[in-house]
Amino acid sequence: MDLLPVFLDMRARPCLVVGGGATAARKVANLLRAGAAVTLVSPELCATLAHQVAAGALRHEARRFVPADIAGQRLVIAATDDRAINRQIAELANAAEIPVNVVDDPDACTFVLPSIVDRSPVTIAVSSGKTSPVLARMLRTRLEALIPAGYGRLAELSGRYRERVKARFSAQRDRRRFWDRILQGAVAERILAGQFEEAEAIIERELAPDALERDLGEVYLVGAGPGDPDLISFRALRLMQQADVVVYDRLVAAPILNMTRRDAQRIYVGKERNHHAMRQEEINRLLADLAKDGHRVLRLKGGDPFIFGRGGEEIDTLAAEGVPFQVIPGITAASGCAAYAGIPLTHRDYAQSVTFVTGHLKDGSIDLNWPALAQPHQTIVFYMGLVGLPIIVQQLLAHGVAPEMPIALVQQGTTHLQRVYTGTLATICASVEADPPAPPTLLIVGEVVQLRDKLNWYRPPDEPVQGATTSIV
Ligand SMILES: C[S@@+](CC[C@H](N)C(=O)[O-])C[C@H]1O[C@@H](n2cnc3c(N)ncnc32)[C@H](O)[C@@H]1O
Repeated sequence: MDLLPVFLDMRARPCLVVGGGATAARKVANLLRAGAAVTLVSPELCATLAHQVAAGALRHEARRFVPADIAGQRLVIAATDDRAINRQIAELANAAEIPVNVVDDPDACTFVLPSIVDRSPVTIAVSSGKTSPVLARMLRTRLEALIPAGYGRLAELSGRYRERVKARFSAQRDRRRFWDRILQGAVAERILAGQFEEAEAIIERELAPDALERDLGEVYLVGAGPGDPDLISFRALRLMQQADVVVYDRLVAAPILNMTRRDAQRIYVGKERNHHAMRQEEINRLLADLAKDGHRVLRLKGGDPFIFGRGGEEIDTLAAEGVPFQVIPGITAASGCAAYAGIPLTHRDYAQSVTFVTGHLKDGSIDLNWPALAQPHQTIVFYMGLVGLPIIVQQLLAHGVAPEMPIALVQQGTTHLQRVYTGTLATICASVEADPPAPPTLLIVGEVVQLRDKLNWYRPPDEPVQGATTSIV
């Protein structure tokens, strides 16, 4: 290690920054966040610094640097655009044994300011030594994405209970096991979900003299999105890597399943059309039982769990039986397919509303409010509409929609197998019959479909040379 990482307590300590530009402003911002008493020496100030000076956040000397400015400082930052002056400041600081940082001059620095991930009181500092601040910033960005915003609250809570835990568990090994359980288990999840009272209640229970040493189970009902793994949310990813049992169905793409913990038990519950590996009631039961056995259960569903996903039914059972759960939204097929097909679902010129309906057949018909769906200036998205396509087309025409109304059928949207058929109500059935698509598919009916000609941007890697659009007009 060329540099020793340390975290300094700078609260109310005098620090000198010389320079009034954007770089100086960035350094000042970090010093102020750490509570330092900053003196800024510069004849001119950028707008950010001027604003902070006007707000009284720091002291400003509107003049050039003089050697006497160094006296009594704990840290010095030279951030002028004059290399010779910066070097002079560094020499003076060194002579006075005050740590000094010089902008864009690593050799003159005796300390560097790292890139910071701030989850106060947890702070992560990333440094590349004096080699590549850009690399350090890139790493920081990755960490920002991985570490949930609520981590600071977790640290605060741990701080509050530290003494009580010490009193309760005299052996260090027992304390460590307790904190492992708390910080990785249900308490952490409650905090990150913003359920602070519940989190404290669990800690209190676990601290009780007669508490059993067991983790509480929980169910994470997670929306896996329409297929592209990049569309998963940070929270979904975190929970996917925590759960020790994964209950998934057909619509969850393999690359997404592979993002779950390697050692997790995986249970397939099916849900293919007319072929369910497990009935809905059995799935509900399974989730509750697994959680009651202390498992962290990931119920992974395609798209969004609350949109044609029966997510409500599954958590209904959990709620009734007092099993803790969280619901993590996913990108629903309508949003994902529309975006990746270049079809805005609403548009000021064409559609003022969008309606999501199920095209699922029941006893050979589809029970929908057809007069409402036939109204102009709207977009209708049919989930599960492939088998019922002829009935959908026939009903829309019968209720007054023009045969020229554009329609798109998106096959396996957002994946490398995406294929988009476009046409009109008059032509779509014949085209689909001639070249049947592979499920899952989504239907989008409305004038907005024609915007695809201009807005189509997504090229699936496996797209045939002829193009991914099967035009059927
Ligand atoms: C039972 S619903 C589940 C919907 C899911 N909860 C959601 O929010 O997207 C299944 C239907 O969603 C649609 N679907 C889901 N993923 C899709 C995809 N990648 N491409 C096209 N349609 C999709 C199809 O209409 C499929 O029949």
